[in-house]
Amino acid sequence: MSYSISKVAIVGLGLIGGSWVKGLREVNPTWHITGFDRNADSMGKAQALGVIDAFADNLEQVVAGADLVILSVPILANREILRQIKPFLGSRTVVTDVGSVKGSVAEDIRQVFGEDQPNFVLGHPIAGSEKSGIEAADANLFRNHKVILTPLTVTDDSAVALVSDLWKSVGAKIEIMQVEHHDEVLAATSHLPHLLAYSLVDTLAHQHENKEIFNYAAGGFRDFTRIAASSPKMWNDIFMANKQAVLDALDLFTHDLSELRQAVAQSDSTAMMGVFTRAKVARDHFSKILARRAYVEPMKSQQINYIARPGGSLSGTFRVPGDKSISHRSIMLGSLANGVTEVSGFLEGEDSLATLQAFRDMGVVIEGPHRGRVTIHGVGLHGLQAPPNTLYLGNSGTSMRLLAGLMAGQGFDVEMTGDASLSSRPMNRVANPLREMGAQIDTAEEGRPPMFIKGDKLLKGIAYQLPMASAQVKSCLLLAGLYAQGKTTVTEPAPTRDHTERMLKGFGYDVHVDGDTVTLESGGQLTATNIDVPADISSATFFMVAASIAKGSDITIEHVGINPTRIGIINILRLMGANLELLNEREVGGEPVADIRVRYSVLKGINIPEDQVPLAIDEFPAIFIAAACAEGKTVLTGAEELRVKESDRIQAMVDGLKVLGVDIEGTEDGAIIQGFGEQGAFGGGEVVTHHDHRIAMSFTIASLRASQSIKVLDCANVATSFPGFIELSQTCGINVSTES
Ligand code: S3P
Repeated sequence: MSYSISKVAIVGLGLIGGSWVKGLREVNPTWHITGFDRNADSMGKAQALGVIDAFADNLEQVVAGADLVILSVPILANREILRQIKPFLGSRTVVTDVGSVKGSVAEDIRQVFGEDQPNFVLGHPIAGSEKSGIEAADANLFRNHKVILTPLTVTDDSAVALVSDLWKSVGAKIEIMQVEHHDEVLAATSHLPHLLAYSLVDTLAHQHENKEIFNYAAGGFRDFTRIAASSPKMWNDIFMANKQAVLDALDLFTHDLSELRQAVAQSDSTAMMGVFTRAKVARDHFSKILARRAYVEPMKSQQINYIARPGGSLSGTFRVPGDKSISHRSIMLGSLANGVTEVSGFLEGEDSLATLQAFRDMGVVIEGPHRGRVTIHGVGLHGLQAPPNTLYLGNSGTSMRLLAGLMAGQGFDVEMTGDASLSSRPMNRVANPLREMGAQIDTAEEGRPPMFIKGDKLLKGIAYQLPMASAQVKSCLLLAGLYAQGKTTVTEPAPTRDHTERMLKGFGYDVHVDGDTVTLESGGQLTATNIDVPADISSATFFMVAASIAKGSDITIEHVGINPTRIGIINILRLMGANLELLNEREVGGEPVADIRVRYSVLKGINIPEDQVPLAIDEFPAIFIAAACAEGKTVLTGAEELRVKESDRIQAMVDGLKVLGVDIEGTEDGAIIQGFGEQGAFGGGEVVTHHDHRIAMSFTIASLRASQSIKVLDCANVATSFPGFIELSQTCGINVSTES
């Protein structure tokens, strides 16, 4: 059925209905609008204000011949009004309402008209003001506000489209919900706060001199209780009509409030801080979501150089920040899980925060991080929402490549960008196999970011032979496999970090690993779990190498992840003669960890076994420093992947080491380094990092064996993986300071 409108009737001339009609009238000046209100005064005012053309004191005259009837009366008045207008409604008259409860109005319609009513479209604008009455009517009240429509299965689609268009014409945005869901959501987000505001004002007004409250209770009281000035009759009806949902919300709140009471009574600061910090983060987050802004604006780049002075030795027992790879995955899988995932030891570095922000942008509530603790309220595999903006992933290749897989399986479009370094990194390694799976992905030239990923594409599982040893590509395809029809199988040419496989299993997902091949199938679920992120062996590497090259050093790095796919650095340093001891080996949440004791020792050059390369892929800048200090020649081959990291790490290290006087030659897939041995030293000078965090940290530790100062340029990106690097370096004996 199609509907057209020339006459509109409004029953109830209050703020909400009055504002809508006022707005509609501005857009459609030729419509004839009649109004009815129990209060004759309101009708007169509505006409005088130009909100309606005419009014009458009987409903028949107002409603007869109307194409659209808007009910805008207190909820409990609806049934009687419906009874009265029933005889005068035409067969094509669309009836809608603006009430805050939908279940009771749907029931009223059933009682008065019976089940099968295609022309009734119930709605609820999420807008308002503590002001009431037709005088406050504002044609712009709904601009950029949501209006929830709750059509039933019997409701005519064209009637829904008509009401939806009318709301859109006054600037509102439409959402469709089930009646019951609407009433539950509104009980918690609107009805309960109103109940609390009324109750608090009433309690305080009883207990104290009124004057005292209004003299002294300015900010907090005023903010919290603004809505207690709303219409009592309207709210009385809402609580009567939505009784059970309000009681459920109130019971939950009462329980939490009594726990908070106990925390105050017992001076339990931890409990109070827990509630307050969680609430603050959630509140800040909601304000951003409401404003449809990305959670965090792109990070501003700062210029920071390090000045590392020669000499020193390392001592002490300490911990380095959490593992970057596991931190990324904890946010991703926690967000897609059902239930609440608690993470401890989370890396609060810019890279993993970029992932965290991306998921907040997609509607996941994530509390923290606070001292490495993060609480993720998972939304399930299909619960992500379209982000308001481009996802900005800063410097983080892991975020972009893993997210590419996940985004390919979503029902919405996404654009992902990053900083200058990330914008020059190859994405076809993930985009091409994802396209084979059915994804639609556009990139800039030569497969560089930004990546545009189209939503709503049906993915099919594939069997993919990785052309390079890359955990990022493997993980990307496995994550896409969660959404693909059939099996997704990835075979790797050499073992790479297996955190995705381990963690998927930890979240209860069926993953089959057979030698070099990993297989999973869609259709499962992730179940929330707790994750204890070990310290990052890649960050520990700088101190392992530093202690190995600086005479007199003796350090212990605690709780370091020693997953077999990550211990290339331990194997390589041991082959070079380093003195490394693994103490207190244990397993934490499915990942092996140990404390690593490192003492100075004389290193020797080696041919680095190629099978260790993927297991130490991020550690080579530091290994180059160790090799330069070793006796004899070190040869690295099979490491061409280093050329496409945050910088071309082979070139960056060759150039920097040459500045420091080292005899080094870069090759296509590695380097040949002549070590200067126990008696030798680096010279001084300025080294260029190409904004690569690991290049910056590697040249910083070189100063321990330098004869003059080393100025390391552009170190701001150390914050991507190792916040606090400078402070920790200073504490354990490296003479380094910053210059910005
Ligand atoms: C990572 C995999 C490695 C590594 C990066 C983190 C991961 O990259 O260099 O820092 O978390 O999966 P590739 O997969 O490109 O080798």
